[in-house]
Amino acid sequence: MRMPMIAGNWKLHKTRAEAAELINGLKSELAGLAGVEVVVAPPFTALETAAAALAGSGILLAAQNCYPEPTGAFTGEVSPLLLKDAGCRYVIVGHSERRQLFGESDEFINRKVHALVRDGLGVILCIGETLEEREADRMFDVLRRQVRHGLKGLAPEAMAGVVVAYEPVWAIGTGKTATDEQAQEAHAFVRALLREQFGPDVADATRILYGGSVKPGNVDGLMTQPDVDGALVGGASLKTEEFARIARFQPA
Ligand code: 13P
Repeated sequence: MRMPMIAGNWKLHKTRAEAAELINGLKSELAGLAGVEVVVAPPFTALETAAAALAGSGILLAAQNCYPEPTGAFTGEVSPLLLKDAGCRYVIVGHSERRQLFGESDEFINRKVHALVRDGLGVILCIGETLEEREADRMFDVLRRQVRHGLKGLAPEAMAGVVVAYEPVWAIGTGKTATDEQAQEAHAFVRALLREQFGPDVADATRILYGGSVKPGNVDGLMTQPDVDGALVGGASLKTEEFARIARFQPA
C-alpha cells in the first residue's frame, strides 16, 4: 500500500549541463518503469534546467534545503514558494550534513517542515544517529527526539505529504551500509514512533526510506525488509546506470 520511493540526493554536484545529461540518461533507462516514485534532488542552480529536462517523464524534482519563510530579508536563502515555482514537488530537510556542518536544530527543521506543508510541497525529513550515539546505546533516544521534534505540531492529515528518511550518519558516504536487519530495526522503531504521535493509519501510510551507501548491490536486500519503503541515495545517484538499477530494485 506504500508506493516505494527512490530519491537521488545529488548534494553539491552537477552543473546545469551535467544535470541535463544525467536526467536524459535516466529518462531512457527508466522509461516504462511503474510502481515506484523516482525523485532527483539537484543543487539549486540546476533546478530549472532539471525541471525542463524532466517534463513529461514521471520523474519528480526535489530541492535539498529551504528556508522557512516565504519572502523577506534573508540573504542567501530560498523559500518553499520559490522552489515550487522552480518545479519542485519535494524538499529534503534535516539532512545530517545540514545538522552537523550548518548547526541546524530540530526546532529549525520543524519550522521548515511546517513551511513546506503550508505551501503544498512534499517533505523528505532526514533523521539518523552518529556512530558515537549508536555505540553509546543512544540510537533510539536520538531517533525519538528527531521524529518528535521534527514533526511536532503537524496534523495527522499533513503527514500525507511527509516522507521520513532514516540515514545513519556512519553509513553516509562511507561505503558501510547498515545491514538489512539494522535498517529494519530502525525503520520499525520509527514506524512505532509515528504510531504514537499520529495514530496507526498515518504510521501504516508513511514511507520510510533508508539512506547511507545504497548501491545496486545492496538495494534488493534492503527493499526486501517490510518497513523499508525506498532509498535516499547519495553517491550512486550521480551515475545513470547505478541509479537506474537502484530504481529497478528487485526485492526477494
Ligand atoms: P551516500 O549514498 O553517498 O552514502 O549518501 C547518502 C545520503 O546522504 C543521501 O542523502
